[in-house]
Amino acid sequence: MVAETAVRPSSLVLPVFIRENATEPRPIASMPGVVQHSRDSLKAAVNEAAELGLGGVMLFGIPETKDATGSGGIDPAGVLNLAITDVVAEVGDQLTVMSDLCLDEFTDHGHCGLLTPDGDVDNDLTLAAYARMALAQAAAGVDMVGPSGMMDGQVAVVRDALDSAGHEHVSILAYSAKYASAFFGPFREAVDSSLVGDRKTYQQDPANALEGVREVLLDVEQGADIVMVKPALAYLDVIRRVRDAVDIPVAAYNISGEYAMVEAAAANGWIDREAAILETLTSIRRAGADVILTYWASEAARLVR
Ligand code: PBG
Repeated sequence: MVAETAVRPSSLVLPVFIRENATEPRPIASMPGVVQHSRDSLKAAVNEAAELGLGGVMLFGIPETKDATGSGGIDPAGVLNLAITDVVAEVGDQLTVMSDLCLDEFTDHGHCGLLTPDGDVDNDLTLAAYARMALAQAAAGVDMVGPSGMMDGQVAVVRDALDSAGHEHVSILAYSAKYASAFFGPFREAVDSSLVGDRKTYQQDPANALEGVREVLLDVEQGADIVMVKPALAYLDVIRRVRDAVDIPVAAYNISGEYAMVEAAAANGWIDREAAILETLTSIRRAGADVILTYWASEAARLVR
């Protein structure tokens, strides 16, 4: 009667992985219950998500081959762009179809951007690649793109590219305050990442909350429709600060490592799995997130029904 916070299926977004040329779904060892989908299993998963009344799905592609420029992300016949078209055809009228707009799944060095000859990430060269990737995703029919590479100016460049090509209706979920986190570990397995090193030159320092808010305000100015804080659990205070600082929807990404911790503890019988899932999601909503990206989205929707 007096609950201040609710977890509603429509507030949840399911991130899904699709692997090029997979004929069977492939389990991800560090994320029990999560798979790299085949085309068929992806269709089944998004139909289930739609039936459960989720708010959306976020697509990640795992290409067969990677290269220095991440060309598979821009290729209209690349795994992610084909998956967008598939998912829009299946459930496009029922939920928001979103796609990761980043090069790291497609580059052989695993960085989110293009590299200089010295091996540093080249911010501005990367922006041009993101613009092309946004156009490919829009042409494939996506509703909302999720620039997640943390390049400075990425939201403005993507907005401008979309608008000048007649894709004004495609909206932007901006990964705005994204921290260089150890909790991304399992995701790197999920996308067969080839990253050596870290992303500390473009992701945020976990010590800085004001800087996270500043990143968010820049993205709002550049045209973000939703701003996101990521990870969620170690950054609940940042979610709250952001919620209080802006008047557009705020999302939070309950990431792979947060998922894996609960699953691993539950598998050992050390924690009540379903209670821990709902408590996790409730805490993220209580902190101020309107939208939560979570690998538990479909299961949580069933639990709260
Ligand atoms: C970048 C991206 C990452 C995640 C989502 N988009 C990886 C990273 O920045 O290293 C992580 C998601 C998760 O850990 O669940 N394309």
